[in-house]
Amino acid sequence: MDVEGRFVEMASMMVRELLESETDQSVAHRWDHLERVRRRALKLAREITDGEIDLEVLSMAALLHDVDEPYHDKQGHVAKSLEKAERILLDLDYPEDKRPRVLEAIAEHSSEDDFQPSSLEAKVLFDADKLDGLGAIGIARVFAFSGQRGLLTSEALEWYRAKIERTIPMMQTEAGRQFGARDLAYVNSFFAKYREEEEELL
Ligand SMILES: [Fe+2]
Ligand SMILES: [Fe+2]
Repeated sequence: MDVEGRFVEMASMMVRELLESETDQSVAHRWDHLERVRRRALKLAREITDGEIDLEVLSMAALLHDVDEPYHDKQGHVAKSLEKAERILLDLDYPEDKRPRVLEAIAEHSSEDDFQPSSLEAKVLFDADKLDGLGAIGIARVFAFSGQRGLLTSEALEWYRAKIERTIPMMQTEAGRQFGARDLAYVNSFFAKYREEEEELL
């Protein structure tokens, strides 16, 4: 079950082109993150049977959710991405009745804000996004992003630990929590090994 409708294909091409020339964009939130979150969201949606999910709305929201995330402005990225996403949806002539649903899911995707994901699409996007922050991919993204911000590895690790502590309890779906458990265990083993190597030097 993949969604390769006309709008998804066009949004995908547009976003890729846009982010290739955007040097301020966080390296952990470039084209590859958006596409992985879309795939993770579709995978999660397959597991959810207690409600109808509009896969096109979900795909569009995944492709646009971090479309404007400068590495130096994480706090402002939801508002910025919303503004750009709205413009892209208009440029694509995306159906007016579906636009607010895509934008709502984007508005509610970040664990930095107090919003609670309200629709099923928003809940799935929220979890898919958090899953991309776990496992080997999640670790690689944290260090890429932290390098761009000029952090020490120990600072990156502290930031990551705090983020995980805050976001894991916020996950919205049972399927998301289940997919996340294996990759969270991997991250925890990485933390433990890091600590072990540091202690060897004391
Ligand atoms: Fe985000
Ligand atoms: Fe994201």
